Amino acid sequence: MQRTSVAITAVGGYVPDFVLTNKMLEEMVDTTDEWIVTRTGIRERRILKGEGLGSSDMGAEAVKEILRKRNIDPAEIDCVICATVTPDMVFPATANIIADKTGMVNAFSFDVGAACSGFLFALTTGTSLIESGRYRKVIVVGVDKMSAILDFSDRTTCVIFGDGAGAVLLEKNEEGFGIMDSLLKTDGSGRKHLHMKAGGSVKPATIETVMSKEHFLYQEGQAVFKFAVKGMADISYELMQRNNLTAEDIAWLVPHQANLRIIDATANRMGLPMEKVMINIQKYGNTTAGTIPLCLWEWEKQLKKGDNVILAAFGGGFTWGATWVKWAYDGTGR
Ligand code: UT7
Repeated sequence: MQRTSVAITAVGGYVPDFVLTNKMLEEMVDTTDEWIVTRTGIRERRILKGEGLGSSDMGAEAVKEILRKRNIDPAEIDCVICATVTPDMVFPATANIIADKTGMVNAFSFDVGAACSGFLFALTTGTSLIESGRYRKVIVVGVDKMSAILDFSDRTTCVIFGDGAGAVLLEKNEEGFGIMDSLLKTDGSGRKHLHMKAGGSVKPATIETVMSKEHFLYQEGQAVFKFAVKGMADISYELMQRNNLTAEDIAWLVPHQANLRIIDATANRMGLPMEKVMINIQKYGNTTAGTIPLCLWEWEKQLKKGDNVILAAFGGGFTWGATWVKWAYDGTGR
């Protein structure tokens, strides 16, 4: 049976205006610009400032750009999936709030919590919804306001992350372009290395959990690094192998932006020169579910119809994955 092709047909993005530089962080914690740049590749990151603003506000801006670009009535969208670990609230889903803020009144919506791999997990889910034949237009958002869960007195985590959102529209494609294959993996035993200790059902918020800073992101950096460097490189290579793709066939690698050293290792394993790798970690840091769609947003003009693009991620959970996309349009598309 012929598989229905489902393609990304538009990209939107949003980063907040406020720029937090490494120099500014030097004033806040015991760190140096030199340490941050050599260990991670990050020079600055964006921070969402403003009372009452959350992930949904950034996600909504990214979605509005798609609707504007494509001149689509928001009522035409069938489904919104939001990948995030920093939802506006524990419930309801941030996707619901994004749908409300953008007028997507006919869409059903839900969140996906797969940390840094969230966008890839949500992309595969959205693709399947259209492949099923039941839905035509699905929007996938990857957004995180990491500044909401960072301890700005902990130098080991606060220098790494930033805030931002990206979104894509998925539609059926008649020419065979689009999401070609996906390999997604989870290992829940990795949760001990990267998580938030309190605020869930196991340890609800109390004065004690607040005082002991258990509502901030907790990461054992070296342990995560070890798994990430292998996980992201191996899965990208495995995806190439099972689809008989060589380095020459691939136009772009779009890696999760957690650490330049992890990105280098992945590109190396795939045999790709760095000119084929989308990198914006120096400007935005690690925006968790936002990194991959933010890269697509920045590079959209350079992408060409038929380009083989590999998206790859590793993150909390542990979760990791790689997706092969045959890009479906030239430039900004219209
Ligand atoms: O996206 C979600 C998945 N997350 C990741 O993929 C992150 C993976 N991990 C990493 O990227 C790296 O492990 C980090 C960037 C988090 C840390 O880099 P590292 O090279 O693994 O450093 P380290 O943790 O081994 O620390 C080396 C030293 C330590 O000092 P001592 O014990 O050698 O005296 C740290 O205390 O660097 C120190 N250090 C810092 N120094 C200056 C840690 N953070 C900082 C800092 N500034 N911000």
